[in-house]
Amino acid sequence: MDTKLSALKSIRGCDGDVHIDASRRLVTKTYLSPNRTIAIANAQREVEYASRFYQALAGVPGVACPRIVTSDYSMPPRVVMEQCPGRPLLQFLSRVGADDPRIPRIARRIGLGLEIYTRLFEEPYYDFCFNNMLFDESDGTISFLDFVIPRGAYDHEPATPIEASLGWLVGCTCYELVRPTILAWSSNEAYLELMRAVVWEFNGRVRADLLSARARHASAQMYDGGSRLRRQYYRTVGSLFTRGFLRRLTRDSLAQ
Ligand SMILES: Nc1ncnc2c1ncn2[C@@H]1O[C@H](COP(=O)(O)OP(=O)(O)OP(=O)(O)O)[C@@H](O)[C@H]1O
Ligand SMILES: [Mg+2]
Repeated sequence: MDTKLSALKSIRGCDGDVHIDASRRLVTKTYLSPNRTIAIANAQREVEYASRFYQALAGVPGVACPRIVTSDYSMPPRVVMEQCPGRPLLQFLSRVGADDPRIPRIARRIGLGLEIYTRLFEEPYYDFCFNNMLFDESDGTISFLDFVIPRGAYDHEPATPIEASLGWLVGCTCYELVRPTILAWSSNEAYLELMRAVVWEFNGRVRADLLSARARHASAQMYDGGSRLRRQYYRTVGSLFTRGFLRRLTRDSLAQ
């Protein structure tokens, strides 16, 4: 295959298209909301948040986010950013065991990144989930991506930014684990272990009831929509799983 072509990759996400040009180490994200105001606001938010977070992370070893290169707010809005090092964290988690020694180190870096983000913006990292993180196995760097506010992520409870962000992470984890495709994974123990370890980083600073409420709210957002069969599956199997999972998590990872 032409090496130039193999260096190009497109990913269709929730907010739009992501085009990766690995030979130039550039990523172009195109915001495809049919609502022009929302599409432009999403692109502007990505530029503002990534730029400020990038500055705040200067000199912090092992934690990174994309550097913005250019932006164009004509329709459809586009943002060009540098490609962050590493590969999707979920890929790594799908092939290691829960006792992998890198997991506690990754949790500390994710905790540090969340700490810096929430202190800087004084608001939750709304789409805080492992899908939005890359892991560079060569030096252990974690890169945070995606600063757009996902549908249904606004915070209506008196949760702190850290509680709300962790709640979203836990809710996303419930959703990911209950998805039928997850059965194809050889193991999801590493995924669970990392999530517990990240929550544990904030032990004593988060209220279990508020975190659980946010997690239930987040997973309910993801369980909603699609066919009647899909909704039924998530409303029954999904809700049961979320409840049991939260009980175990708050018992094992959070001091009451
Ligand atoms: N700067 C970057 N460097 C390397 N990879 C990137 C970068 N930006 C995005 N990606 C890749 O593209 C994927 C989707 O990007 P992003 O999360 O920003 O878009 P999205 O439309 O919100 O997608 P999703 O709905 O899947 O969250 C990421 O999970 C990552 O694999
Ligand atoms: Mg994303």
